[in-house]
Amino acid sequence: MQPFVTEFMSKSVKNIAILASGAGSNAQKILEHFSDRMDIAVRLIVSNKQDAGVLNIAKVASIDTFIVTRDSFYATTDLLVELDKRNIDFIVLAGFLWLIPPYLIQHYPDRIINIHPALLPKFGGKGMYGHFVHEAVHLAKETHSGITIHYVNEKYDEGSIVFQERCEILPSDQPEDIAKKVQVLEHSHYPTVIDQLVSSLPL
Ligand code: GRF
Repeated sequence: MQPFVTEFMSKSVKNIAILASGAGSNAQKILEHFSDRMDIAVRLIVSNKQDAGVLNIAKVASIDTFIVTRDSFYATTDLLVELDKRNIDFIVLAGFLWLIPPYLIQHYPDRIINIHPALLPKFGGKGMYGHFVHEAVHLAKETHSGITIHYVNEKYDEGSIVFQERCEILPSDQPEDIAKKVQVLEHSHYPTVIDQLVSSLPL
């Protein structure tokens, strides 16, 4: 009898999981980028918030979802079971605020990336997320901000940098203006950087 082999078990497809707990605009762009691809697929969206906007995006796109609690995330390997079930090769953080536990980093060495809405190493670290970042950049009267895509390690925003892109800040720009400029960069670069990294993984 032919064994049951689903598409994501096939060795020729590389599978991505996205960890996100916000609106999910980056997750949306990533899903759109890979929607027609036979070689790379987003298989799972993981969130720590039951009401996160990203879960609606997953529903519309018919992507599996998995909710983590603090206890399950840090004290069990339940998430690993879900990732293994789907042969996940690569993990993308897109607005996921919890520190990634060592067991996950060890299971995915150099296979977890994050996007930070500023030019690291400035304006990073615990508590530096969302509008807090743009307010700090504004307060510091920076002439530029941008995005940083980096590997994830056991510390907030300290993994090695893969990619950065800058945008100019005008003296009249408010934190909301900076946020908009940075979001444009995120949406245009995150999917393509993910594509390059995942494409270069050995099968
Ligand atoms: C983005 O600004 C990203 O840089 C940060 O979290 C935010 C997520 O936004 N890591 P969204 O949920 O993708 O709209």
